[in-house]
Amino acid sequence: MSGIQLERVSKEFPNGFVAVDGISLDVADGEFMALVGPSGCGKTTTLRMVAGLEEATAGTIRIGDRDVTDLPPRKRDVAMVFQSYALYAHMSVRGNIGFGLKMAGMPKAEIASRVDEAASILGMTELLDRKPRELSGGQRQRVAMGRAIVRRPAAFLMDEPLSNLDAKLRVEMRGEITALQRRIETPTLYVTHDQTEAMTMGDRVAILRDGVIEQLGTPGELYESPANMFVASFIGSPAMNLINGRCEMVDGRVTIAIGEARITIPDAVAAAHSELRGFAGREVCVGIRPEDFIDVADPADDDAVDVVVTRSESLGAELFVYFEEFAHARAQAAGAAGGLGNVGSAVDDLEATCRSTMVARLDRDCEVAVGERCRLRIDPTRVYLFDPETTGAIR
Ligand SMILES: Nc1ncnc2c1ncn2[C@@H]1O[C@H](COP(=O)(O)OP(=O)(O)OP(=O)(O)O)[C@@H](O)[C@H]1O
Ligand SMILES: [Mg+2]
Repeated sequence: MSGIQLERVSKEFPNGFVAVDGISLDVADGEFMALVGPSGCGKTTTLRMVAGLEEATAGTIRIGDRDVTDLPPRKRDVAMVFQSYALYAHMSVRGNIGFGLKMAGMPKAEIASRVDEAASILGMTELLDRKPRELSGGQRQRVAMGRAIVRRPAAFLMDEPLSNLDAKLRVEMRGEITALQRRIETPTLYVTHDQTEAMTMGDRVAILRDGVIEQLGTPGELYESPANMFVASFIGSPAMNLINGRCEMVDGRVTIAIGEARITIPDAVAAAHSELRGFAGREVCVGIRPEDFIDVADPADDDAVDVVVTRSESLGAELFVYFEEFAHARAQAAGAAGGLGNVGSAVDDLEATCRSTMVARLDRDCEVAVGERCRLRIDPTRVYLFDPETTGAIR
């Protein structure tokens, strides 16, 4: 058995709309792949094509080494779990979990033993005789999972299975589903629009936008090296701050000017980005994650920016400080980058800076006051740089 493979798979609907545009994806055997992206980007369509519920208009789909592109759903050996778990109200948990096997004509004794095994894996043995209405939302979701695992399919396909649950239960179920998947080692394609869910659950994560995979990698790779501004702003919460800057060479060192602030890029970092020197004298888009503002700095500190705090939120362990762009920053409009973060606004004076909110995650002990100016230090090794024309990361 060897996972799920999509090779240049497309879906053009009869009305001419291309919802999925030639995506290639390889879910290894036993791997948990999260497919994440904004609403309407083609996640469900992709999953339905793998399940056979939607015909691919181009490309090849393989499951467990078999080309299933032209096979009907029942011959694909996949089990799907949806957002709505659609349990049969009049049937017990036992009946619900075993229903598919019964329909497939499996002998009763075999069904009973598979249902018992699934119930024990899911910690539901005591609930087997209950009806769905006697279960909590999380327990119902577990029944839906049970129905999928008793079939011992070659692949699991899950479409936002947790989105009907409340926030706390959702976090609990994330852990349950990944632990379960690890135990039964069935390759899984898991669709969600929630980047946190994708990042915490996926062995790897594919980021989909307008039917195209923008980047595919481990959660660490996506966070550390986003391929472009879309991925950069999609991964991480709160989102990465994006602002216009200018790349300059000062005494042979790469410096990023943001308004009046100058951030000197450490030589080792500059050396690791071979394209960077080519940007000397040019506009760049600067990305700073909220967690990469180190703290409140002295006025004399380098690698720091002046901001005026507009709001602060204390969550106990951490403090989120919001500010309206860097004071004095003169952001240039950047055609291709419009619409993302703070890029695209033209700022002339301090009053006019109140356009787009940026956020820093600071130590809970930092003292900042709303309405006051403060100076925030930036970790210069953690600054992200993008080409404002292509929106791609400067490598
Ligand atoms: N039968 C159809 N005909 C034409 N367009 C369709 C059809 N079904 C879906 N679409 C379009 O295809 C795009 C992708 O839809 P899809 O359901 O795959 O999105 P999604 O990523 O699952 O979004 P969500 O997060 O909202 O569930 C959407 O723009 C949708 O309007
Ligand atoms: Mg969907």
